[in-house]
Amino acid sequence: MQSNGKQETAKAIVSRRFFLAGSAALSAVSLTGNMEGQMTQAKTDLWGRILNGRVAVVTGAARGIGRAVAVALAHSGANVVGIDICAVVDPRSGVEPASRAELDQTGEMVKSEGGQWRSFVLDQRDLPALRIAAEKINAEFGHIDILFANAGIQAFRPLLEMEDADWHIQIDVNLTGTANALRAFAPYMVQQNHGRIIMTTSTQGRHGTLNGSAYSASKWGIIGLMKSAAMELGRHGVTVNCLVPGLIDTPLTRHEERYAQALQVAGRTPTGDKAVDEEAARKALQSKSILGVPWIDPAEMAPVVVFLASDAARMVSGATYDVTGGDSANNV
Ligand SMILES: NC(=O)c1ccc[n+]([C@@H]2O[C@H](COP(=O)([O-])OP(=O)(O)OC[C@H]3O[C@@H](n4cnc5c(N)ncnc54)[C@H](O)[C@@H]3O)[C@@H](O)[C@H]2O)c1
Repeated sequence: MQSNGKQETAKAIVSRRFFLAGSAALSAVSLTGNMEGQMTQAKTDLWGRILNGRVAVVTGAARGIGRAVAVALAHSGANVVGIDICAVVDPRSGVEPASRAELDQTGEMVKSEGGQWRSFVLDQRDLPALRIAAEKINAEFGHIDILFANAGIQAFRPLLEMEDADWHIQIDVNLTGTANALRAFAPYMVQQNHGRIIMTTSTQGRHGTLNGSAYSASKWGIIGLMKSAAMELGRHGVTVNCLVPGLIDTPLTRHEERYAQALQVAGRTPTGDKAVDEEAARKALQSKSILGVPWIDPAEMAPVVVFLASDAARMVSGATYDVTGGDSANNV
């Protein structure tokens, strides 16, 4: 994806990566690992336009997982509203900020899949801004069917060296921001007695994270939020579930601070040289990955989200779905 500098069209993503594995058809799917451990899948779209006419809201849509899922939702027939801050979230994170141009590029990819596209540049810490967006979307489309509450940020700081802000940026953006998205969009789903909410947590919300306690706590918190929301919203025909990504190849993971963290976990000392540390992190991550994948392509997240957004998942709520390249095998 764009994180390694390559520009991909939606069709390229779809033809190379996006296939939806229904249980009945799993036997027809061929998997072949390459040296990177990335999987090349059968080019079969097993679900077709399963989300035809649905309106899906995706937060963190400018790039990474949000973009890949936005394109997949459109490929499955949905119209997509992309939300992103498109600016520096907080200088304490080593993650490069997303841009308005990237959000627009996601829009072009969605449109090339036949989906209508609208976008809002806002900060998900701002609940009133989310509520205004929700009102506008509902007024224009007449319904809001799917929320992929995905936007997030990551930073590392040892617990005892933290300043208050180190803690708050991650709890505020990841946990409170995700709750804000739910609070802004779920009322429209309740009103129509139908809705699908999928939140992005993390494998770091299933185990501890060295020097990443605020991130880990925010992602564990999202699972608690999801399970509680599933209890409250189920009677209104709204399901709530979590996507649990492993280590994904996006700007969130491809920078020096993250390479250094991976090396520290492996008992190594980072050099501070980005290229050297990236290569060392690649080796360390690949050797510890069950499926031999250092970073998973973000498009691999899409099949689970499309399934959870569909009618086929009507009896699935309160659940976590892991796409971790096997890292889940380490979790209870
Ligand atoms: N990349 C991974 O390995 C990984 C693993 C597990 C979970 N996740 C989670 O997946 C989600 C997407 O991450 P990604 O890897 O695609 O990262 P990314 O940095 O590529 O994309 C995140 C997007 O969210 C947006 N965003 C951040 N804060 C925002 C805010 N306050 N309001 C609105 N938009 C905001 C950013 O601008 C960016 O476009 C995040 O919640 C992240 O924690 C990522």
